[in-house]
Amino acid sequence: MTQRTARTSARTATFTESVIREMTRLVMDLHGVRGINLAQGFPDFPAPPEIKDAACRAIQEDINQYAITWGARSLREAVAEKTKWFLGLEIDPEREITVCCGATEAMISALLATLDPGDEVVIFSPFYENYGPDCILSGARPRFVTLRPPDWTFDRDELSSAFGERTRGIVINTPHNPTGKVFTREELEFIAQLCQSHDVLAFTDEIYEHLTYDGAEHVCIATLPGMRERTVVVNGLSKTYSVTGWRVGWAIAPPDITDAIRKVHDFVTVGAAAPLQEAGAVALRLPSEYYERLRQEYLERRDYLLAALEEAGFGVYSPRGSYYIMTEIAGFGFDSDVEFARHLVERHAVAVVPGSSFYADPELGRTQVRFCYAKRRETLERAARALSGLRAGG
Ligand SMILES: Cc1ncc(COP(=O)(O)O)c(C=O)c1O
Repeated sequence: MTQRTARTSARTATFTESVIREMTRLVMDLHGVRGINLAQGFPDFPAPPEIKDAACRAIQEDINQYAITWGARSLREAVAEKTKWFLGLEIDPEREITVCCGATEAMISALLATLDPGDEVVIFSPFYENYGPDCILSGARPRFVTLRPPDWTFDRDELSSAFGERTRGIVINTPHNPTGKVFTREELEFIAQLCQSHDVLAFTDEIYEHLTYDGAEHVCIATLPGMRERTVVVNGLSKTYSVTGWRVGWAIAPPDITDAIRKVHDFVTVGAAAPLQEAGAVALRLPSEYYERLRQEYLERRDYLLAALEEAGFGVYSPRGSYYIMTEIAGFGFDSDVEFARHLVERHAVAVVPGSSFYADPELGRTQVRFCYAKRRETLERAARALSGLRAGG
């Protein structure tokens, strides 16, 4: 918890400092450039040259003033085109898309636009750390449902009983951070039926939609019967185009919800960076081979790190999507995930994220840590060498 002072709000006192950023700071402070940061979810390799050129061009062409607050038309049209070919959904770029400062802002704007204090939102745990604070800022109460290893599925009775009188929404994230789970069509059909019988909205974060492996199929819940009109799809440029620092994302929602999201977005941030929205329009029109190559390269990184982790003595849950690996550390004999993560960063110069930081009930993550493999081969090889000393008690 953050200490509350006389000058700070009760709201912020409930937030904890991001463990991910703490680990990143620690590895840099202790090891400088020698440190190996597998904690934070961003690539250490360059973005595609076509889109970097497009961003430079947009600035040179003086696209440097506010874009339309809900997004440059070129980007909204590109989002609609891509959503059509990739998901098969027809979206009206004039009435159903809001461009935001990243998927992160798209999610919180969508929650602020639809929830009232006292409402409840179902969230699967473990989860991407922003969803909890997003609910608090919206005044809503999260109801957590646990995803359990090895395949990170949920208990259907537990999920059904989390839906009650006050439930207004459910947050889905597929492919999933931190577990690499890809929700199956059957699981999403079950969730869809609950949403419809309880008149609940689905907020689905699909920022890793192109990173699926081993034949896993990415299914967007909005494509299931009866769900298009009750789903907000959150997505962005960050992961698919390796530009996490650009802060461009969007929310796709039915027109009435889009109206409300646009108002929140306007008052919170006004708009995302105008030249980077133009570059985003170029990115979204890259040919399908781009996505095939991206997936293949991530698959190779995943397989390399999986083998290295197993060799080093970790229990691994092979991810079918996203770019993280959740691991079991019970075999190393540490008291907790946090203690293990500190040891790893101090003695082996490798930053990871303690599993407990992703769970509503931290106990469930006490024997787990998360690795991110959005890294160059050279970085992963250095990590493999650093980790190889672990079992020897180093
Ligand atoms: C599930 C999930 N959603 C959203 C984000 C952040 O997206 P953006 O950079 O577009 O805000 C992340 C980043 O790690 C993530 O894991």
